[in-house]
Amino acid sequence: MPSRTLSLGVLASGRGSNLQAILDAIAQGQLSATVVLVAGDREEAQAVQRARAAGIPTAVVSPKAFSTRDAYDAEIARILREAGAEVVVLAGYMQIVTNRLLHAFPQRVINIHPSLLPAFPGLHAQRQALAHGVKVSGCTAHFVDETVDSGAIILQAAVPVLEDDTETSLAERILAEEHRILPQALQLYADGRLSIQGRRVLIAPAAHALT
Ligand code: GRF
Repeated sequence: MPSRTLSLGVLASGRGSNLQAILDAIAQGQLSATVVLVAGDREEAQAVQRARAAGIPTAVVSPKAFSTRDAYDAEIARILREAGAEVVVLAGYMQIVTNRLLHAFPQRVINIHPSLLPAFPGLHAQRQALAHGVKVSGCTAHFVDETVDSGAIILQAAVPVLEDDTETSLAERILAEEHRILPQALQLYADGRLSIQGRRVLIAPAAHALT
């Protein structure tokens, strides 16, 4: 499948450094994509401010305004569709997504998680890694399924865990790799190189340019 410009919808709750990595990769020509909407669950999310600064359409939708998670995700799916999003990226999104959203974007929701899944899913992955005394941790870009941090893995990157690491220092080392592999995973999608077979994501070889 030829490379094309992917329309990305990004969901974010916090600092937004992964959103920034996506925007930087696009600006540097390393990712053929457009961010069509950044939707946050709270107004204070720095990710939302970053998007506004970059002139990207934003929406803030508070879960508190909805009586059920299903109704909340129906609204999130609606605004993503309306914006023309093809792939949805969870970039530090603190809400658990439901089937309402997953069915609206089947196999088209991608998350970045700060551990080598299936180790340390859920919150405080770096703290979990330190508590277990692992010598290597890292990050995972994966498709999202109905279980938290369990979907088919696209890319992973490993980083060493050092003896004097704190949660903060380990998080920073992992974050640098998140910023590398998330845009890479999205570019693989844009290039049509990803296929899901059972739990595995197969990555087709790059097409060679004719010379
Ligand atoms: C990242 O560590 C990401 O893996 C996790 O939440 C953090 C978000 O960071 N899901 P940022 O908001 O992208 O800076």
